[in-house]
Amino acid sequence: MNMEKQKAEKEARYAELYPQLKALLEGETDSIANMANMAGELHNTFQFWWTGFYRVIADKLVLGPFQGPTACTRIRYGKGVCGTAWEKQQTMVVPDVEAFAGHIACSSASKSEIVVPILKEDKVVAVLDIDSAELDTFDEVDAKWLEKMVKLLHASMN
Ligand code: SME
Repeated sequence: MNMEKQKAEKEARYAELYPQLKALLEGETDSIANMANMAGELHNTFQFWWTGFYRVIADKLVLGPFQGPTACTRIRYGKGVCGTAWEKQQTMVVPDVEAFAGHIACSSASKSEIVVPILKEDKVVAVLDIDSAELDTFDEVDAKWLEKMVKLLHASMN
């Protein structure tokens, strides 16, 4: 499949998933329940290697709801892809994790990654982290939709 067709298909899957997630999350006020359902929906729709959340608790990112293999539980500010997204307050798209200095390898099967920070009142309160077992899985289409999706968590996050 060529790149443009792949992107169009991905776009269509996100566009279909978004209203379903919105409906699912809208009636629930507990952020952990909402993060758990979002991780589950994304993971099952796209068959990622690992899909989950880390929450900012004091000076660390602490593992939250996820789907996939066992992961590292605590990440320091500025460390790894997650800690960098926290520090820079911006989405990190990493096509090849081995080429990212300081990448934290929770699993050697992980080849590419995207991390989207979740901001509330200009502060990062959590990050969404997705790992793929293939190189170069994520691009601006994922970044755009995942940034839109994590906004669905705002109302339930404190
Ligand atoms: N690779 C991440 C750590 C979290 S795991 O991928 C689940 C990082 O470098 O921050």
